[in-house]
Amino acid sequence: MLNLIKQIVEVSLGERSYPIYIGESMLYGFADKFRERFNGAKAAIITNPTVWDLYGSQLTESLTAGAVDYELILVPDGENAKSLGVAERIYGDLIQKGFERKDVVIALGGGVVGDLAGFVAATYERGVPFIQIPTTLLAQVDSSVGGKVAVNHGLGKNMIGAFYQPAFVYIDVSTLNTLPDQEFAGGMAEVIKYAFIKGEPLLSLIQEKKRAILGKETGLLSEVVRICCSIKGEIVEKDERDVGVRAYLNYGHTLGHAIESTTKYDYTHGQAVAVGMVFAARLSQRLGLLGEDAVELHRRVIAAYGLPTTASGASAVELVRVMERDKKRAGGGHFFVLLDGIGNPVVRKIDEDMLVSVLSEFLREV
Ligand SMILES: NC(=O)c1ccc[n+]([C@@H]2O[C@H](COP(=O)([O-])OP(=O)(O)OC[C@H]3O[C@@H](n4cnc5c(N)ncnc54)[C@H](O)[C@@H]3O)[C@@H](O)[C@H]2O)c1
Repeated sequence: MLNLIKQIVEVSLGERSYPIYIGESMLYGFADKFRERFNGAKAAIITNPTVWDLYGSQLTESLTAGAVDYELILVPDGENAKSLGVAERIYGDLIQKGFERKDVVIALGGGVVGDLAGFVAATYERGVPFIQIPTTLLAQVDSSVGGKVAVNHGLGKNMIGAFYQPAFVYIDVSTLNTLPDQEFAGGMAEVIKYAFIKGEPLLSLIQEKKRAILGKETGLLSEVVRICCSIKGEIVEKDERDVGVRAYLNYGHTLGHAIESTTKYDYTHGQAVAVGMVFAARLSQRLGLLGEDAVELHRRVIAAYGLPTTASGASAVELVRVMERDKKRAGGGHFFVLLDGIGNPVVRKIDEDMLVSVLSEFLREV
């Protein structure tokens, strides 16, 4: 069988450092990497029925051939699986199946499975080794890297969690072939975010190779994922616990979250972030940090990947009201990640009157 690890990105965090393996048709070779690190350990594969039906046999073929003892723990598909209730059920399974500290939790799936399985790994027996096998574009370029793991609470998303880095991340971009278009576009919103906060070479790559990226050409996807993982890895290395520059990863997310919640999720996360980035560019332009051409570039790149550049169904006043919550959390003041030139993110406090005025105008732009 093919086993094509094409790229390795190292995340350097002292004793919590880890490699990210990236390539295609790699699931068949997983057991070799597992045994290199965890020979003799058992594996708990946490996944959902959708992903298991698609990729379970490739993974288990590898584990069986490599004589790795494993148990399957299925959780429901969808954001609701990120709950303490589901986590508690998994703890029960792990206890009943005799999992010990040396044994390993594997997340096979998108960001939901990754966040949930990571939270379980961080807390079961005070922490067991954890491996991420992300299968959505969002999880491959974003959620599987950086160690944020969490479940949701009825009163807020990701409210119960930890910083818990994986032992390694194993990214097979071939899995993206079965990803629905809307999920792929959601991941592209994060790729585009990296392109604007870091600039070249990613910004040119996603403009010049749009057809191949949308055609899911695996060589190119490996390269895009590698660049994104190294950008995220670099930021996490500087600010693992999110008290400084990790905020740059929220480019487009402040307005994005408000759009998701105001429109009652008519906009997916990726769509909302896409609109949020165009707005952040507009705000940067109004502050004299970016030229009009950079705002236009945002619109062009975002539209090219089938993402919206403006939002309907929400007023500026409503959106600012929702952003009040973030404002309180940030200690008063509307803080936005803006661009002082492409590739150069900065955090700026924005006066509320100005925010309402630029946002009202922005929502009228076509
Ligand atoms: N930890 C972090 O740093 C971080 C960062 C960003 C987002 N997140 C979290 O990630 C979650 C969203 O992740 P997501 O967008 O991957 O959603 P998801 O995990 O719900 O996956 C989206 C859908 O795609 C399906 N799927 C997964 N892989 C597939 C494949 N290869 N082929 C076909 N279908 C497949 C899933 O079953 C699901 O129905 C949210 O809970 C969010 O809070 C975490």
